[in-house]
Parts: sequence; structure tokens; C-alpha cells
Amino acid sequence: MKEIKIESTLYVYDSINNTPVAVQQLMQKAVEARLKAYAPYSKFSVGTALLLDNDEIITGSNQENASYPSGLCAERTAIYYKGSQYPNAKILRMAIIAGSENNPTTTPIPPCGACRQAIAEYEVNQNSPIEIYFMGETGKVIKSNSLANLLPLVFDKSVL
Ligand code: THU
Repeated sequence: MKEIKIESTLYVYDSINNTPVAVQQLMQKAVEARLKAYAPYSKFSVGTALLLDNDEIITGSNQENASYPSGLCAERTAIYYKGSQYPNAKILRMAIIAGSENNPTTTPIPPCGACRQAIAEYEVNQNSPIEIYFMGETGKVIKSNSLANLLPLVFDKSVL
């Protein structure tokens, strides 16, 4: 038997103010997108902004449904919009902000597993890494240089 160790490197900023200005601007778009979340059931709203290599910025927010599983996360709302509107553009960077109405969210909120899988599809296809920054309403910001760091052992088209 052989042991395999999987390592990921992430970077932590003490606050959004410590990130590069371009990241602060993208996160501000995510903040604005979050205001448009439709989250009457969970009271947990998420905003996402994507920077594309054609300089477009795509945003999304979570959209819930009375039939709970029919709702969609902010990240997938944004990434599928990108796929349908700008199929040939590459995603350079993604900013995510999330928080609950019930209690202050002061820790960085990473994309859920299903969103990681969805983002992986685009990262694999575009053959270049997507930088991902995520945060709570306040506090630290985590940066991953690539979706791959958040989803080791990805299931992708190479096995089909
Ligand atoms: N949510 C997102 O939008 N993104 C995630 O990565 C995690 C969860 C949404 C889904 C649901 O509307 C609410 O947050 C609570 O799970």
C-alpha cells in the first residue's frame, strides 16, 4: 500500500482592504450582486462576480425556490450565465461574498462542492487557472490560485 498526500496552498488576507485594488473592485461587484439574492428560506445570501479575459464582469446571486432543490447557488448562476453568453471567454478571477441574516458571518465562505464541480468544468475546458477569492460579510479573505486547489481528485471529461 502506498500513501498519497494531497496538499493545497491557499492565501489568507486579513481584510479585503489588503487585497489588490482590482480584487477589491471585483469583490464590490459581488457585494452588489449579493443584494439581489433571493434567499427567503435560508436567509443566507451569496454574491459572485467573475472577471473574464474580454474585460466583461459577470455577476450572480443565489436564487432559492419553494421547492428547495430547485434553487441555485450564486456561483453556478454566474458561471452558467458566462457559459451561455460568452462561451469563448476565459474566466480570470472569481470573487465570492456570503453571509447569513441570522448571525454575522465573519469567516470566509468557500464555494460548495457542487459549485466547485461546476467551476472545474470551465477551468478544465479553458486550460488556465481561475483565481478564486472568498469571504464572509467581513473579515479575512481567502485566495486560491486555482479551482483545482479546492477540488483535488476532480472528476472531469478526461475519464469519460
Ligand atoms: N449557496 C450559494 O449560493 N453558494 C454556495 O457555495 C453555498 C450555498 C446558497 C444556496 C442557498 O440558497 C443558501 O446559500 C444556503 O445554502
